[in-house]
Amino acid sequence: MCGITGYIGYDEAAPLLIRALKKLEYRGYDSAGVAVIDNERIFVRKMKGQIKLLDESLLSFPLGGKAGIGHTRWATHGEPSDINSHPHTDSEGRIAIVHNGIVENYIKLKQWLQGRGVVFRSDTDTEVIVHIINYFYRGNGGGLLDALIETLKLLNGSYALAIVSADYPDRIIAARKGSPLIAGVGKTGSFIASDIPALLEHTRDVIFLEDGEIAVLYRDHIELRGSEGEALKRETTHIEWDIESAEKGGYPHFMLKEIFEQPKAMSDALGPRLKKDSASNTIIDFDEVKLDERWTQARRILFVACGTAYHAGIIGKYALEHFARIPVEVDIASEYRYRRPVFDKNDIVIVISQSGETADTLAAMRLAKQNGSRVFAITNVPGSTLSREADTVVYTYAGPEIAVASTKAFTTQVVCIYLLALELGRLRGQISAQDYQRYVAALSAIPKQARQILDKKESIQRLASRQFNKTKMFFMGRQFDYPVSMESALKLKEISYTHSEAFAAGELKHGPIALVDSDTLVVTFATQKALFEKMISNIREVTSRGAASLVITWEGVDFFDTVSDEIFTLPETEDSFSPLLAVIPAQLFAYYCAVQHGNTPDKPRNLAKSVTVE
Ligand code: G6P
Repeated sequence: MCGITGYIGYDEAAPLLIRALKKLEYRGYDSAGVAVIDNERIFVRKMKGQIKLLDESLLSFPLGGKAGIGHTRWATHGEPSDINSHPHTDSEGRIAIVHNGIVENYIKLKQWLQGRGVVFRSDTDTEVIVHIINYFYRGNGGGLLDALIETLKLLNGSYALAIVSADYPDRIIAARKGSPLIAGVGKTGSFIASDIPALLEHTRDVIFLEDGEIAVLYRDHIELRGSEGEALKRETTHIEWDIESAEKGGYPHFMLKEIFEQPKAMSDALGPRLKKDSASNTIIDFDEVKLDERWTQARRILFVACGTAYHAGIIGKYALEHFARIPVEVDIASEYRYRRPVFDKNDIVIVISQSGETADTLAAMRLAKQNGSRVFAITNVPGSTLSREADTVVYTYAGPEIAVASTKAFTTQVVCIYLLALELGRLRGQISAQDYQRYVAALSAIPKQARQILDKKESIQRLASRQFNKTKMFFMGRQFDYPVSMESALKLKEISYTHSEAFAAGELKHGPIALVDSDTLVVTFATQKALFEKMISNIREVTSRGAASLVITWEGVDFFDTVSDEIFTLPETEDSFSPLLAVIPAQLFAYYCAVQHGNTPDKPRNLAKSVTVE
């Protein structure tokens, strides 16, 4: 979704704004723009298309000035076009704003402004904001901050805003409600942005704005204000991520880099939660969760999430039911929040979100809290809204994930879920001491096994070059292989734009098989040993109807050779941990198919990394 940034300091603003926008590119956008203040006048440059077009334009015809705001737009109201791009200005061009979010009541506000003679230039909801600010600024005789405070009271919906005014060349004002905003002071000035990577090269000590807060940025300090303008104090949060982790580091795309970072990311997620006991056995030490009676006696656990994180939640259901014998439900956040879910104050709700900013996931979390549930969050982003509002937070330690299609965030979410399931199983007396040791050892070995899979990337690359042109690609599996199929189908559709679906293999005959023909590839996950025979039958059912077949199974299992043309083998682990390994060839396959199609895997069409609107 849209990305916003702002800079005020000692250096030229435009190049810094462009650099920051490039760091926010991953959020998804269709146009970009900047507004810079020079000699108490505002100059805007904005256009449809990639940031590099804007960059080239600014290199040919530079805009001078040491304060400015920038924006990448992901169109919601009005088509992608130069005019609809941000920044938007008031009629006299004295105030400019950038906005991430949606003004839900913009039609009413627009009519009200038109009734007062305001002429609109764009089709956006955002333009109303700048005209209202101007209306109050000119009409009320107060300052820009007062005008903004009055304006915000009229807006329904969500916003992260950055505002510059030719009358106030010494400051940028920013405000947040529902869309993320982070501010920090670096050596050359003060910065604001929608996400951490845009600030990392300047500072790692940042302020996360909370809903209803306003930040006033000056060259060397930032003032934080409440919704009525009252002064607030906030400690900065130190971000451990380094700059390199937000760079491509020699890989052609972030997605490939992030797939290859999984062994380390999973190690980082496991490391702090494993320790040796007095007998030198490795045990789980999940002290951030405090698995008290509420957990051990829980009658129900509920996972709520969106997209890839939702698939991690389904694995969570299988894992918690398998290891801890607790009933578990999984819900898509946007369904949970709008239907009438049955609440029970003894429920534990586990909310999963890489970004910690997904609008529906946050709304679901708030709903669960309001109804007395304890909310436990699994997230990757320290300081995110989810991390601040949940009762308990477990960080996935995956480092910044830039590619829109989630990979290392997913596997680290699943690692955290397995740790929780095993520990809860032990505390509830559902796992013997011997099995517990075996499981913990198997989990500890996963990062190394993931590396072995990545070493075989060429075989997946070759497979993709043979199969990428199929018009349909289906993924099927049973038990733990089913959520992996769902995640694999999502990865493929997200970045290769191939029609792909996932089926519980037992459902094949209840409909999906009608779609299978010779233009179909069926990828079968076969890691659940007790179900091998059933999977062989399912594979035969699709190959006999002309489909090409790829089977992903354990090393040493050779009988799938007789039913499938293509086999990819995984180093063996416990069947119940197979998702952590089986998803990796599927991620690579999706990536290489996207490359074969000539797509840009990091920035798939129409998608956004962080879905901050509902
Ligand atoms: C978007 C992203 C996905 C992500 C989903 C949930 O759809 O493109 O990669 O899985 O949002 O995001 P979250 O940050 O809540 O995990």
